[in-house]
Amino acid sequence: MSLIYVLNGPNLNLLGKRQPHIYGHETLADVEADCRRLASELGHDIRFHQSNREYEIIDWIHEAREDGAGIVINPAAFTHTSVAILDALNTFEQPVIEVHISNVHKREAFRHHSFVSHRADGVIAGLGTEGYQLAIRRVASLITSAGKK
Ligand code: DQA
Repeated sequence: MSLIYVLNGPNLNLLGKRQPHIYGHETLADVEADCRRLASELGHDIRFHQSNREYEIIDWIHEAREDGAGIVINPAAFTHTSVAILDALNTFEQPVIEVHISNVHKREAFRHHSFVSHRADGVIAGLGTEGYQLAIRRVASLITSAGKK
């Protein structure tokens, strides 16, 4: 059993209440429950976190260096601003999948650039909260193929 970190950036605590026409009606607690269910089906454990503070996300990435087999991250607005989160992810040597609930490329130009994409092994955008499930499946399959090497 491996440990997958699922990290969420600012304002995602308001998921379900915040601009539901963009982000949908599911809450972050719903997303967490779905992630836990899928991870256990796939034989993995997850550590699920959200913070509005950049340093906390960085600290969780550092923690994942010790015991994480992969990271699924929705950095939210930090996607477009944070070299510090990119630098932290660059210290992590296991799979990283970046998730955005909305299709950031269909939105304002400032959302089109992602610092995190410079490191991510894959990026999912615009598939709603289902994107988290797909990201966990991908991390799990990368963990399995790394184990076979
Ligand atoms: C987001 C997209 C970001 O541009 C935005 O700042 C968010 C959420 C998404 O999941 O679609 O907070 O990462």
